[in-house]
Parts: sequence; structure tokens; C-alpha cells
Amino acid sequence: MRDALRINGQRLVARLAALGEIGALEGGGVCRLALSDEDRQGRERVIDWMRELGLSVSVDAMGNLFGLRPGREEGPPVMTGSHIDTVRTGGLYDGNLGVLAGLEVIETLNDAGITTRRPLCVAAFTNEEGARFAPDMMGSLVYVGGMPLEEALETRGIDGARVGDCLDAIGARGEAPVGAPDVHAFVELHIEQGPVLEESGVTIGAVEKVQGISWTEFTFTGTSNHAGTTPMRLRHDAGYAAMATATFVRELATRLGGDQVGTVGALTLSPNLVNVVANQARFTVDLRNTDNELLKQAERSLADFVTQLAEEEGIEVERRTLARFDPVPFDPAMVDRVEASARALGHSVMRMPSGAGHDAQMLARVCPTSMIFVPSVGGISHNIKEYTAPDDLEAGANVLLQVLLGLSE
Ligand code: GLV
Ligand code: MN
Ligand code: MN
Repeated sequence: MRDALRINGQRLVARLAALGEIGALEGGGVCRLALSDEDRQGRERVIDWMRELGLSVSVDAMGNLFGLRPGREEGPPVMTGSHIDTVRTGGLYDGNLGVLAGLEVIETLNDAGITTRRPLCVAAFTNEEGARFAPDMMGSLVYVGGMPLEEALETRGIDGARVGDCLDAIGARGEAPVGAPDVHAFVELHIEQGPVLEESGVTIGAVEKVQGISWTEFTFTGTSNHAGTTPMRLRHDAGYAAMATATFVRELATRLGGDQVGTVGALTLSPNLVNVVANQARFTVDLRNTDNELLKQAERSLADFVTQLAEEEGIEVERRTLARFDPVPFDPAMVDRVEASARALGHSVMRMPSGAGHDAQMLARVCPTSMIFVPSVGGISHNIKEYTAPDDLEAGANVLLQVLLGLSE
């Protein structure tokens, strides 16, 4: 009976579309930056759905949102979920799929009149993206006790706003405590956000680990001067130095090869005018690798390059670490469960690492954890064109259902 149970794919797609209306962008996709008014509206919609499904809703001091379904026995819940914040140019699926597939599983169990032995919990964690407030995975990091609540609340975003003020402004600061969660196991369904499943013709990824993440913000300070009259030998050009660093990051990742990736995704110049040498450049570097030693090597190479460049150009450099997470291996027995459930449902499945950061990597600190990936068309994500076919969404949610059923008995 339980093995034959299936989620309703159309209902899942309809909820994804409905949530995607909040913060919808022209041409598709969404902008629902963490703790924005769109985030507030998204949370309200998810809370309404949770209540309609009979879940008891709680919100913690970090704004993490939980919907609990009691089991036949009391005790730590089996948890699933993800996030509903997006980057500025986000799609409908990143994070949202994990939360809404959790709700779809709950509705499927409600319809079938099944009460699991252990309680089930669907979570939507605050600020997974880190696009507005660094670090990423902030809500789940605080939830598991990896960052003091006070430090998170004091964090300022790219717009200067404080996390604590924004939580209050959107009414998202709750009463539930953070720091010592009691969770039996955690499994998160997510789109792959890369090309591997599609290129391999495989439907389900059983995620074995998440690669290490290193985010640094650099600020170069030089001297602004006239672009026409200042001889090249007399320049202290912060803009040039930033762009030379961006080029170096690209070359570094290419030279190291393997899983190494490197990105300069944000850059602001000041005064940012056609005929003025920039006196200030602020930019971010995102380095990632599945191997922590190689990631450290990349970080050292970058640091050495920047030090030498600043000296040669006669400019000052400030560095600020925005995020630094080691690679995270998932629980092998949990990865086996995902693989076995996918196979039992007749899906092709492969084991793979995650290139993106996820709330699951934080939950892995406190309970057995793994993830289920489904294909991203064209490997495109953090882009309004992000898309996963309905059949694949349904396949992933059915694997989630079976994994949750297994864990909750
Ligand atoms: C979060 O989405 C990240 O991997 O940057
Ligand atoms: Mn995500
Ligand atoms: Mn994302």
C-alpha cells in the first residue's frame, strides 16, 4: 500500500506556479530576496498552505518556518524542506521545490489517511541564498547552532539593512528557540542546478556530498584621477586591480582544473565614470571545490596574487570573509536510501556531489542527512530561465515521499 502511494504532480506544479507569482519577474522567474516584502508574502502563502494541510506551524527566532505533522509516537521528527528566498534573478524551482514537495508529501499522506510512526516536519529556512545577506544557508546554520543568533541578527546586507530589523519589519521573527534541534533525519529535494543529470540522461541524483564554499569580499582603494591626463606610470587604479583579479580567478580555476570553480559575481567601482580612474573597487570572489585541500590552495594563490597586485599598483586592500564552509559528506546510509527508493520507483539514478550550497549541508551537522536531485534543463539556475520538467519534479517528489515514509517508520 505505502510502496504504491504516489504524489500528485499537477498539484505540485500548481503550487510552484502559485508561489512563483510572488516576486514574479518579466519574462519568467522570481526575485524574492531574503527578508524582502516578497519573502514576507511567500512565507504567508506557505503558512496558509501548512495550516490548510493541518500542520502546526512554528517560527523560530531566526525566522525559520516549520510545519509539523504528528506521528503515532512522539519524538524527533523526520524533516524535509529547503528555502523560498531567491537570488535577484531566480527561478521557480531553486529551494521552492524542496518546500513545496514537502507539502505535497503531506497532502498525499493526508489523502491516504496515513499517520506515520514518527512526526514529519516541513521546513523553510531563512536566507539560504546569501545573495542579500552573507553567509548563505544562514537560517539553517543558526538553526543547527553553527552561528550565534546575535551574530546573524547583526549581519548587514548589500543594501546596508540589518537581518534583525528586516525580520521584524516583515513580522518573521518567531518565538521558537534555535541552536539545539532534535531531528531524526533530514532529506532535501532540490533541482541539480547544473548539467550533469541531463547530460547523463539520468532522472535522480543521490547526493553524496556538497563541495566547499569560500566567499571573500575585497575592497581596493587607490586614487581617482583624470583619465586623459594621468600617465599610466602614475596611476593607482582600483578598477584595473579588481578586473585583473577577476581575470586571475578565471585563470586560477582553469589551471587547477578538476572540480575547481571561481567567480567574480559582484563588482562596484567608484566613482564609476567614463573619464575617471576609479579610486575604489569592491568585488566578491566565490571559490568552490569538493576537495578542501585544493580549495585552501586556491584561496592561498588568490591571497598572494592580491597582495602582490596591490603593492605593484600602490593601492590599499581590505579583505572580508563572507562565507567559508568545508565540503560536507552526507550519511552513506541516507544516500543508499535515496538510491534504493529511486530504483524501486523505476528511475535511473546516479550518485553525485552538489556544486551548490544547501540547507541540508547544515542539517548534516545534527542528524543523518542526504539530498535528492532532479535535472535542470540546460544546467541553468540562478537565472529566470531555470526549468525542470514536470515529470522530473514528480519523480523527485515520489522519491522524497518514499524516503520519508521509510525514515518515519
Ligand atoms: C546557494 O544557492 C549557492 O550555492 O550559492
Ligand atoms: Mn537552493
Ligand atoms: Mn540558489
